[in-house]
Amino acid sequence: MLDQLEQIEREALSSLEVVQDEESLQNWKVAHLGRSSPLMGTFDRLRDAPKDQRPLIGRRANEIKGVLEAAFEAREIVLRQVAVQQALESERLDITLPGRAMARGRLHPATQTMREIYAVFAEMGFQVYRSREVESDEYNFQLLNFPLHHPARDMQDSFYVEAESDRGDDPILMRTHTSPGQIHAMRENAALNPENPPPIRIILPGMCFRYEQVTARSEMQFNQIEGLAVGYNITLGDLKGTLGDFARRMFGENVRYRFRASHFPFTEPSAEMDIECFVCGGEGCPVCKRTGWLEILGCGMVHPVVLANGGYDPERYTGYAFGLGPERITMLRHRIEDIRSFWANDLRFLEQF
Ligand code: PHE
Repeated sequence: MLDQLEQIEREALSSLEVVQDEESLQNWKVAHLGRSSPLMGTFDRLRDAPKDQRPLIGRRANEIKGVLEAAFEAREIVLRQVAVQQALESERLDITLPGRAMARGRLHPATQTMREIYAVFAEMGFQVYRSREVESDEYNFQLLNFPLHHPARDMQDSFYVEAESDRGDDPILMRTHTSPGQIHAMRENAALNPENPPPIRIILPGMCFRYEQVTARSEMQFNQIEGLAVGYNITLGDLKGTLGDFARRMFGENVRYRFRASHFPFTEPSAEMDIECFVCGGEGCPVCKRTGWLEILGCGMVHPVVLANGGYDPERYTGYAFGLGPERITMLRHRIEDIRSFWANDLRFLEQF
């Protein structure tokens, strides 16, 4: 019987070696450690053995049972490791691949330019004043010294908000420029002290709207930044000094600029400011239309009628105003050729800034 036991152990162990999966492992357990396995049969047949051999056989059978159980567990662990290995192999992950970059938002190029402009004027003591986008004809034109039916209104064709208005000569419209904010700011400020209105130094940024054919050069909606300074003894020299300083801070210490006489109903005298074309350095090229200069803003001394409309006595107060186009400046800086790109919402354009 002892020989049989050795045989049982050998066979069990060698058949375990070829077990490759969980199911045959369980079958092996039933066959070699189960109730009706040869090993367990040995315990039943113990009483058939000679009495003096029984303890020996019993001990040996128990030893073998222990060996087989340990072998079963070892095999189970190996099989489990193999299974994990196979799963890893089949779900192989290449951790050396570069990750996907997170898409990050950014400021619109016009917003970026506007914030730079705010910063430049903030350093010079200008505060930001926000004014409404929907205006009356009175504020948008009349109080700014555009007489009714005056041809200067043709420069700024308007979007009217009400189809039929009972407001007669004062219909509601989308502002065509930020200049009506001048009147709002002056009136609000003058109300603080009507006898001696306090001085003003503000910029007024915001969207403007014109009923225009949309082309590469003109949009029907665009930003402006208005500037307004009102006080005692403010001169054209102050205006030129301030705008020269602005140009140097915005475009660099060595920028060359010039003022050209112009006309606006709400300023007198009026001018436009050009900076030297930085594409050709003043030689003349398609960007500057061969003039060597790029127009960046309109400006002038606040017209006495406008001061009076704002509640400031033109005998005692003077002031200057200017209006610049952030999109235009952005176009010049980045050589953007089509103003429609600003509102086309094309990420290929927007992501370049
Ligand atoms: N409002 C003018 C325009 O839209 C610009 C301007 C502002 C000119 C202030 C002079 C003074 O063209």
